[in-house]
Amino acid sequence: MLVNILVIGSGGREHALSWKLSQSSKVDTIFTAPGNGGTQNNVPINADDLDGLADFAQKNNCFTVVGPEDPLAAGIVDKFNKLGLKVFGPSQKAAQLESSKIWAKDFMKRNEIPSARFEIFDNAQKAQEYVESLDYNVVVKADGLAAGKGVIVCNSNDEAISAIQTILVKKTFGDAGNRIIVEERIDGIEASYIALSDGDVAIPMATSQDHKRIFDNDEGPNTGGMGAYSPTAIIDDNLTKIIQEEIIEKTIHAMKKEGIVFKGFLYAGIMIRDGKPFVLEYNVRMGDPECQPITMRMDFDLYDYLVASVDGTLSSLPPASWKLQSAVCVVLASKGYPESYSKNDEITGFDSISNGAIVFHAGTKKSGEKILSNGGRVLGVTALGDSLESAITNVYSAIEKITWSQKYNRTDIGKKGLSYL
Ligand code: AMP
Ligand code: GLY
Repeated sequence: MLVNILVIGSGGREHALSWKLSQSSKVDTIFTAPGNGGTQNNVPINADDLDGLADFAQKNNCFTVVGPEDPLAAGIVDKFNKLGLKVFGPSQKAAQLESSKIWAKDFMKRNEIPSARFEIFDNAQKAQEYVESLDYNVVVKADGLAAGKGVIVCNSNDEAISAIQTILVKKTFGDAGNRIIVEERIDGIEASYIALSDGDVAIPMATSQDHKRIFDNDEGPNTGGMGAYSPTAIIDDNLTKIIQEEIIEKTIHAMKKEGIVFKGFLYAGIMIRDGKPFVLEYNVRMGDPECQPITMRMDFDLYDYLVASVDGTLSSLPPASWKLQSAVCVVLASKGYPESYSKNDEITGFDSISNGAIVFHAGTKKSGEKILSNGGRVLGVTALGDSLESAITNVYSAIEKITWSQKYNRTDIGKKGLSYL
């Protein structure tokens, strides 16, 4: 019997997951809630309306796939499980790895998972004294979810003190900043390592590297991610083994020992310094935009693997196989992102893309036959190539075809990857 799927979310990640799941011979209709201008069968229920989502999944007999972190942190998986609904993703307790940075840091410390040295504060004066006692630069982080913005990387004590004020005193991130982490700044090369777990085993996904800053050469403020490519040579076989064993498997096993079964995508944001990996953060979901190039390289039925994660049967599946090609995703954003930007601008050129590139939608919406911009990160154009260099050429030739008055993209996505080859 074919199965219906409900994908929750509205970003490029969710469009990419739907796109890949739609290739499964076992899948019937894919619904997306609330979806975007590129996803099919959109259901007008927001990702925070857990009752509405459960009701829809029940009535339409869906296997539900949760894309973003907020509903996971709100306990959507626990809720669906109680109702006997099949749902892919971690429980609320397991999602603490992302929803509380302090919980995650304490977890890493007690389980000896490599990460930056840190202290926790709820008092600005004490945090400031601590910063002044150190002879290295720090990063100041709000404890809770702050839409990817609650992390301030500091170049001096003055910057650190102002970051402490911003989060703890001015409460720029609200209650997410009731407590902060002050941790050592690790200078190195950042990459993304994502695995799929059923609570016992963890199957590595293809490696990738995000480009978080808004401008070329990694300059300007942090964003949700301006582009990504896969695989990345910075995580070679030796480092893959170390990260898989000493970070991913150690995390899954330690969670289990502490009574928490981690099912879902486990994402470790890794900083590599002098050949050694350190965990900067965990996410309990696919990365966005990493998901787009990773799914394009999947040479397996994603539905089978997501079901096996839920059922605890991943070890009975063959290792995930990957296209040997490279994939590159370039995010097309609205000018002004990550600060203010306009919406409702018409985007054209979708029909002219001919070289196999896929246009994953994020901040878009449909208005009749037109596609309008509806967010900061608007599209994630993704292309394969026989080498990283050719994937870069392919993706940049595809994005030329897509136009709108406010289009902005980085021109160097994937370029740093060439330097590791
Ligand atoms: P996070 O949301 O914790 O990943 O932090 C956002 C970004 O801040 C990361 O992607 C890194 O670029 C940077 N970052 C976080 N923690 C550190 C650290 N300890 N040292 C250097 N950079 C960091
Ligand atoms: N690309 C980083 C993230 O998804 O958090």
